[in-house]
Amino acid sequence: MAISPEIDFDIKNLTSFKIGGKINEVFFPENLNEFEQILNENKNIKVFGNLSNTLVSTHGFDGKIVLTTKMNSSSIDGDKVIADAGVKGPKLAQDVCEAGLSGLEFMIGFPGSIGGEVFMNASANNQAISDYLLGVTCYSPIHGLLRYSKAEMAFDYRTSRCQSEDLIVLQAEFQLLPKDKSQIKAQMDENLTFRKLHQPSLALPNCGSIFKNPPGNSAGRLLDSVGAKELSVGGVRVWENHANFIVSNDNGTSTDVLELMYLMYKKVKDRYNIELEPEIRFLGGKDKRENELWQILNKK
Ligand code: EPU
Repeated sequence: MAISPEIDFDIKNLTSFKIGGKINEVFFPENLNEFEQILNENKNIKVFGNLSNTLVSTHGFDGKIVLTTKMNSSSIDGDKVIADAGVKGPKLAQDVCEAGLSGLEFMIGFPGSIGGEVFMNASANNQAISDYLLGVTCYSPIHGLLRYSKAEMAFDYRTSRCQSEDLIVLQAEFQLLPKDKSQIKAQMDENLTFRKLHQPSLALPNCGSIFKNPPGNSAGRLLDSVGAKELSVGGVRVWENHANFIVSNDNGTSTDVLELMYLMYKKVKDRYNIELEPEIRFLGGKDKRENELWQILNKK
């Protein structure tokens, strides 16, 4: 039986930026079988997790997407952990801590889901999701289900094979390190303190770092040095405590964000001849100006 999507779904409140219009069709699979069926029946459909790293256009999106938020099963067996794409990072970090397993402490402060974090090889506080990964079950529109070992995943800074080959993450398997619970908890507390000091809380709607760090450099430092913290457009502004974050007030729009990203990009390009690349994903396509801006910013 075909799985029904939500129609004309208003996505704004599901995004950490609190920005976004209506999406024609949104599927919410609840398990791997449903997810696979949706992917088989809707080739090349776009998939998103917790929408914590995605700017969705205020004009909405004419098409279908999958959100993995209801696919949140995980299991722990000895030092092995299996998590579905939609499992939230902080929840998994806490569960494995309870089981006395170390390796995912960095996830505690990130609102992302496992699928998105594998897709971009999320990292923080000297840990990356790829560090203790054994393998990933992916979906390819051409080959169907595939399992890749960590070595086959081509992980690098903020990238993986999923990005170059348009693969969708269904499930990830980890082998973690047994450790004393109190040590794991202490590391998570330290990570949360770092986050509170250096990054905006979600009470200030944002979607994490806006640009990737260029090789051997820091996007935040470069942006700071060109005065980006003074910049704002419409309802969004560069965060005053870290120049690689954009925060939005209640009426910020996706066009405001893209115009502001362009100003930030241009200032760094003009001063240093370095072209910052977005770390965030963009879901849109209906507005001409937004498409122009995204094309300039996103060279891939
Ligand atoms: N800096 C400035 N001015 C600023 C911001 C930063 O001078 O306005 C300097 C800092 O003083 C520091 C350097 O730039 O010397 C790097 O800043 P920070 O330590 O905050 O780290 P980051 O490189 O900006 C990266 C990740 C974060 C991750 C942290 C902690 C990227 C793009 N960002 O930030 O990941 O949490 O390291 O490990 O790689 C995310 O990806 O969304 C994210 C938040």
